[in-house]
Formats: sequence, C-alpha cells, structure tokens
Amino acid sequence: MPPLSTTLFLPMNKRFYITTAIDYVNGQPHLGHAYEKIVADVIARSRRSLGQETFFLTGLDEHGQKIQQAAQAEGKSPQAYCDELAVDWKAFAKKLELTNDDFVRTTEPRHKEVVQAILTKLHAAGQFYRKTYKGFYSTKEETFLTDKDRRPDGTFDPAYGEVIELEENNYWFKLREQQQWLIDYLEKNPSFVQPDYRRNEVLGFLKNNELEDLCITRPAARLNWGIPLPFDKDFVAYVWFDALVNYISIPAAHGDPTVLSALKNSQPSTLNPQLSLWPADIHVVGKDIVKFHAVFWPIMLKAMGLPLPKQILVHGWWQKDGAKISKSTGNIVDPVAVIDEWGLDAFRFYVLRELDIGPDGNWTDAGFKSRYQAELANGLGNLINRSLSMLKRYRNGVVPAKHDELAAAAAKAADETRALLKQNQLQSALQSIWGLVTRANQYVDQTKPFSLAKDPAQARRLDEVLYNLTETCRVLAVLLWSFLPGTAVKIYVQLGLTGTPDKLDAATWGGLSAGHKIGEPAPLFPRKEER
Ligand code: ME8
Ligand code: MG
Repeated sequence: MPPLSTTLFLPMNKRFYITTAIDYVNGQPHLGHAYEKIVADVIARSRRSLGQETFFLTGLDEHGQKIQQAAQAEGKSPQAYCDELAVDWKAFAKKLELTNDDFVRTTEPRHKEVVQAILTKLHAAGQFYRKTYKGFYSTKEETFLTDKDRRPDGTFDPAYGEVIELEENNYWFKLREQQQWLIDYLEKNPSFVQPDYRRNEVLGFLKNNELEDLCITRPAARLNWGIPLPFDKDFVAYVWFDALVNYISIPAAHGDPTVLSALKNSQPSTLNPQLSLWPADIHVVGKDIVKFHAVFWPIMLKAMGLPLPKQILVHGWWQKDGAKISKSTGNIVDPVAVIDEWGLDAFRFYVLRELDIGPDGNWTDAGFKSRYQAELANGLGNLINRSLSMLKRYRNGVVPAKHDELAAAAAKAADETRALLKQNQLQSALQSIWGLVTRANQYVDQTKPFSLAKDPAQARRLDEVLYNLTETCRVLAVLLWSFLPGTAVKIYVQLGLTGTPDKLDAATWGGLSAGHKIGEPAPLFPRKEER
C-alpha cells in the first residue's frame, strides 16, 4: 500500500504556464503589443498541440502615475478610465484570436489581495526599510533614474519622457545582498534568460554594477492610484512591484498549491478544479523590461520562498521603415487596420516569419505585401486551391487509394516542426513548413496532373498524384494550426473533415482514406488586385 499522503493528495499535473507582459492600459494597442501576444499564443497553441495541458495568461497593467495622469487629463476617475480601455484591449485579444485562459487586470480584487498578502509577508520578514531619497523620476517608464542613466551631454534619453526631481520618504526592498546568488543562478542556468545575448547583458549588468535597493512604495499624497500598503495607509505599492505579481496572483486565484502555500493562505480556494501552474515555464517580454523580469522578479520570488520561473524569453522591438514606432511622428502600424484589410492570418504570418524571437524587426508595407503574395497567395494558397480543385474536377472530390510519394517530405516537415516548436523556434518551424509547400508545388509542376488527366491510360498515375497532394494539404493544416489557426480550419473544412487540426499527432501520413469526399475548394489568400 502506498503511504497515506499519496493516496489522499494526488499530485496534480502541473500545466505548461506561459505569460506575456501586461500592457499599460493607456494608449492604443500597437504592433509591438500584438507581436508579443501572438508569439505567446503560438507557443501556447503549439504546446497544446504537442499534447501538454497549457495555461496562457495575458492582461493589463492599470495602476501608477501615468495612468492616473492620463485619466485626469480626460476628466475621468482612474477606475472608469481603465474600465473603458480594458474593453478595447480585450477586444484586441479577440481580434488576434489569442487562446489565453485568463485575462488579468491589476485593479481586480483577486490580484490586489495577493499583492497585499506578499507585502505583509515580506514586511514581517524584515525585507523592507524606510529611507528618504532625492532623485530623478521618469513617469513614462515608472522608474527612478540615476546619474548612470544620463547621456554624455548630461540629459536623459527622450524615451524616458518628462523627468522630474523628487524627494520622498518611502519603503525600500533590500536587493543588495541578493546580487551574488542571482549571478550564480544565471551562470548555472543558461536557459533562464533567452536568447543568450540577453542573458549575457543581464550578467554583465549584475557583475559591473552594485544593485541598488528597490523603492517599492509611493506616498499616497502624491499618487493614490495604486494598491494600498496593508501596514501603512499613507502609501501605495510601486506599480512594478504590483504588476510583476500578476504572474502569481492569477495562479493563486485558480488555487495553485505552490503559490498558496507560500502565501500561507489558509482559505481553501473556491475554484474547482484547482490548477497547478507555478513556476511559470515562460515569461515572454520585450527587451526593455528585462531588468524587471530577470533581476527584480527573481529576487522578489526568492524572498517569498517561491521557485523561479523557468525562462524569461526576450523578444526584440519592431520599427517601421527603419525608424522608431511613434504616435507623435505618425510612424505607426495599426494592427487592426492591417487585419481588417488582409486577414488575421496574413498579419500573424508576417510578424512570425519576418522576425525571430530576439533581434529587432523592421516592418515595411512592401515586405508585408511581398510575403503575402509570394508565400501565402502563390505558395500555400495556390497549392491548396489547385490540389483540391483538381481532385474535384478529375475525381469528383473523392480521395483515391493511399500512395506514399510525398510521405517522406511530409514526415520530415512534421518531425522538424515538432522539434522546433519544443524549442520555441517559431520562425524556423515556418521555414520548415514552407519547405513542404515548395516541395508539393514542385511536385505539381513535375507530375503535371492536368496532362495526366487527358490520357485515360494514366488514370492510375493521376490517382497517385492526387492522393499525395490532398494528403499533403491535410498535413499542412495540422502543422499550421498554431501559427495560422483560421487558415488551418479552412483547409480542414475544404477537405471535408470535421474537427480541428489541433493535435500534432494527426500530422502522420495517411490520415485521408480512399473514398472520403472533400468539401468545396475556395481561395485562401485572394490576390489583392483581383478584388
Ligand atoms: O512595459 N516592439 O507595458 P508596455 C515590440 N506594463 N515590442 C514592444 C514594442 C515594440 N515596438 N513596444 C512595446 C510595460 N513592446 C509594463 C509591463 S509586465 C509585469 C509589465 C512590448 O505597454 C514591451 O517590450 O509599455 C513589453 O514587453 C510590452 O510591449 C508591453 O509594454
Ligand atoms: Mg513601454
């Protein structure tokens, strides 16, 4: 008989847990926000497709000085202002067809309670102290600046926006003693921050600078739009201390046993079933907020007695036409306008195919159109449309007997895609999938089914070719699911298949059986000039 404890407390399967940065609610969703969320969505979908139970979290960062000021400028209460904008952001997530399992807003009670529980716990553990500090503050980036942040001419980078001088008495979180274990941890765990050059930047920063303690409050007299300190009503929590906690407050709200036990939360969770999520498998974040995620967050977690996330996956920044994206100069890409004109999958394809996770990217309208035309319309779209149209015309839409001429090419693409998805190599996986698209289009040109169809003696050969093409279309739908979900479903529908191509196991050759009747072929990516 097993020990009693294992029969009473069956270990819960920990889900694969992936998060995005939570966006500042003020301002409009732009290309950079869309890109990050799509990257996380593709990873989440691909893990599910690989058979892993997955939890994908995204959401909004709603506290802080810049939100308070933006609300004031519109003559609204901060909460009313956030509530209005949250509607737009949630609609944006829908527009991108994100498969997030929850959507956090930092003004929600379920989040605030956890932030307060952590503040109470760390305060009781003696992690905080009071001090008066005089320094420079960037409201735009919600961070204190030091002389090290000045440029050679003594000014601060315009990216910081207006920089004000402040003298304030606040609570501070002790970071100084934490420097060495974090360096050791980063050195022993190369995959903790990826790509490597981002990890090296963090290590370089930690080795060459003495960590400053972190100011974790703002006086409520100056800023009241924040989470009140449970032990001192004159202060609210610093917005970054509040925001980072979203990654564990939502697991706590879903009854995560690891987080709840660290918070010593004796209240049983009312949510059923309880989900085991923490530690996160991946935090997807942009390059500008690496220090918050790879330095402050691990230190906060260690102080709380919680394990560290497995990986901070850092993506680069998009520019447009080689210049910074900026509303004031009008140099912007409006994701919603692009999606409305070209379709969601065209947008998802371009950002994922154009930019690997890591380096900076450059959007050009010409580059977007050229990928649409060459890879989507002439590549994938043409393959699916001519394959299914020929089956319809020559065989009345009925699948012939199985044949394996393209089986090896399909298996290669499937194996590579599977392996690359496990490594979050999204761009390379698309390249591999397009290797199969190209191979199949060449196959049409080489075997010339339209000529075979004219010769009754070639009927058997035409059957073989048509099977290979139709089955390749099916395999492509399965491989494309994580990237281009709408297109994958359309291919399945045109193939006359029910269900969703959302499991990579289905990419095995031979899924279509002889006698199956396909549906109606229709162009997937209409040529623009024909519209
Ligand atoms: O930083 N290209 O929010 P945010 C690619 N609330 N990514 C970009 C980008 C661009 N041009 N511009 C912004 C915050 N991003 C905090 C996060 S997390 C606990 C709190 C990315 O709205 C940026 O790098 O300023 C970040 O990962 C995300 O968009 C949200 O940025
Ligand atoms: Mg920002």
